[in-house]
Amino acid sequence: RPRVLSGIQPTAGSFHLGNYLGAVRQWVALQETHDAFYMVVDLHAITVPQDPKELRANTRLAVAQLLAAGLDPDRCTLFVQSHVPEHAQLAWVMNCLTGFGEASRMTQFKDKSARHGADRASVGLFTYPVLQVADILLYQADEVPVGEDQRQHIELTRDLAERFNGRFGRTFTLPKAYILKETAKIYDLQDPTVKMSKSASTPKGLINLLDEPKTTAKKVKSAVTDTDTVIRYDVGNKPGVSNLLTIYSTLTGTGVPELEERYAGKGYGALKTDLAEIMVEFVTPFKERTRQYLDDPETLDSILAKGAEKARAVAAETLSQAYDRVGFLPAK
Ligand code: TYM
Repeated sequence: RPRVLSGIQPTAGSFHLGNYLGAVRQWVALQETHDAFYMVVDLHAITVPQDPKELRANTRLAVAQLLAAGLDPDRCTLFVQSHVPEHAQLAWVMNCLTGFGEASRMTQFKDKSARHGADRASVGLFTYPVLQVADILLYQADEVPVGEDQRQHIELTRDLAERFNGRFGRTFTLPKAYILKETAKIYDLQDPTVKMSKSASTPKGLINLLDEPKTTAKKVKSAVTDTDTVIRYDVGNKPGVSNLLTIYSTLTGTGVPELEERYAGKGYGALKTDLAEIMVEFVTPFKERTRQYLDDPETLDSILAKGAEKARAVAAETLSQAYDRVGFLPAK
């Protein structure tokens, strides 16, 4: 079986619809066909200031949401990044292979450091993509299921893997990004030209999966569309309607052309009312399952303990090979 690896940050509390449609939904499907490793990336989270209590709670919450979304610990390896110390260890080695200019060109760093103020951005934030490189290479992943915003980080992973292999001998698998075209970028409901995101979106434009279902319905119904009336998929001219069609189509498994036909001659109101109902039907049981996992911390902990053990077995093997190639003296 080919191997996949991916990660999600715990910082946000609730996952948003972009996280789910862009990434987590694919994770659930891929556990059936791939040897799958999925993690909550708490090391990445502390690249910006975190309250320790909240970080711990949000890490549990992230795991509970992944389980609620359909990850099955019998079908995939689910773990917390800090439980596997090899991530930080390999990241150091990769940091030493990364050019300063190369790291400076990472667009997510540029965006985030602009937001936090260049002087207050941490060195950790700067080397964040290199830690992600280590995450992926440790597992010799063939594919990395993510949204479009992570593509540049996967390219960096390939570059560094090639560099390491070239310098020290074949050690790492070169991974490919696994990005589904339809859901690569889910847009803000209030400003459908920017991606849905915790930091960039207005509260009304952001669908949190753990919002009250009533709130979710309201947000869908007040989504920004356009002054036209035709329901047609056309990202350039009708970004709002196209985004709603993407969401509708993915959640129901109905093709976009079929939806265009179904809503021919009907107004935006009808589309939004139906989509609001579909969203509510999706988030209500999701919220309930998340609560159930949170209410049973012992089960959660034992899932994570097993996951960390399985992940470490793979990660330790790769790290010891990399250490050896680099020329570190084996510890006796
Ligand atoms: P994070 O936590 O920001 O996002 C998790 C996943 O959600 C996707 N995503 C979206 N997809 C479509 N439309 C959107 N509006 C949208 N917003 C977010 C992201 O692309 C991502 O796949 N650096 C990563 C976490 C990470 C990682 C890794 C991923 C750490 N190590 C190793 C893969 C492999 C991040 O911050 O994702």
